[in-house]
Amino acid sequence: MTLTGNAKIAGVMGWPIAHSRSPRLHGFWLDSLDIDGAYLPLAVRPEDLPTALAALGPLGFQGVNLTLPHKEAALDICDRVDEIARRIGAVNTIIRDPGGGLRGTNTDAFGFIENIHAGAAWTPSDGPAMVIGAGGAARAVVAALIDAGVPEIRLANRTAARAEALARDLEGPVSVVDLADAESALADALLLVNTTSLGMAGQPPLDLALDRLPETAVVNDIVYVPLETDLLARARARGNPVVDGLGMLLHQARPGFEAWFGTRPEVTPELREFVMEDLNP
Ligand code: ATR
Repeated sequence: MTLTGNAKIAGVMGWPIAHSRSPRLHGFWLDSLDIDGAYLPLAVRPEDLPTALAALGPLGFQGVNLTLPHKEAALDICDRVDEIARRIGAVNTIIRDPGGGLRGTNTDAFGFIENIHAGAAWTPSDGPAMVIGAGGAARAVVAALIDAGVPEIRLANRTAARAEALARDLEGPVSVVDLADAESALADALLLVNTTSLGMAGQPPLDLALDRLPETAVVNDIVYVPLETDLLARARARGNPVVDGLGMLLHQARPGFEAWFGTRPEVTPELREFVMEDLNP
């Protein structure tokens, strides 16, 4: 719709920002829900982040999403940072309070769990989950699994020390598994998640044999270009339920949109199609 003088404004800050899919995603919801609001791509250099965030209040922004390289720096700039963002060690969503203060949160753990529940039958408390990788994305995934009540989380990473640090920081039922033992650690897992960049277009595939994984286990890749990674194709071929990574991107956007624009948006097949049209490997 045409904006009025009352339009609510939000956006995404990153450097670079041209690659961000968030304006397209939020723009779809603004259009389809006929909301008087706008969501802008904001190219903000790292050194300008404090000034840019301080300007949100004066400019009357509802808030912003943050993407690379701002997510960690914002921890020290927001007036308040909630517990989940502290645990993950990154802020991806900022909401301006009525009083003007900036509240930083992280919606990646929410997006991850919602995506799995939307795509497969999985009861977190029923058994172990296996996570490959120990980067920023793994922090959100492991925090989500702990909070969902998964009784045992096995974590394997090329750099074992990073997995150890993640397990220490997140304080849950997390056991670090040597990458060489990851295949046997799949034996009674109910969920397998790849959080590494392996399998992404231009990267080698994740080299992990699935022979030991129960056929009922859900397999999820947070990579979404391509939508069906080699891991997901192999899992599907042997009969495992699979969940692709695009849904995590779509679901993580929901809490910010609701806080800024006042309407709870849904992830629909039409939204997926619309965002997929723009995903070129
Ligand atoms: P993100 O924030 O997206 O998770 P990251 O912090 O760079 O990105 O983490 C990337 C993850 O992919 C890490 O677990 C990384 O393993 P290391 O911690 O050993 O670096 C993993 N990864 C990337 N390339 C890899 C490769 N060629 N083989 C194995 N693991 C790889």
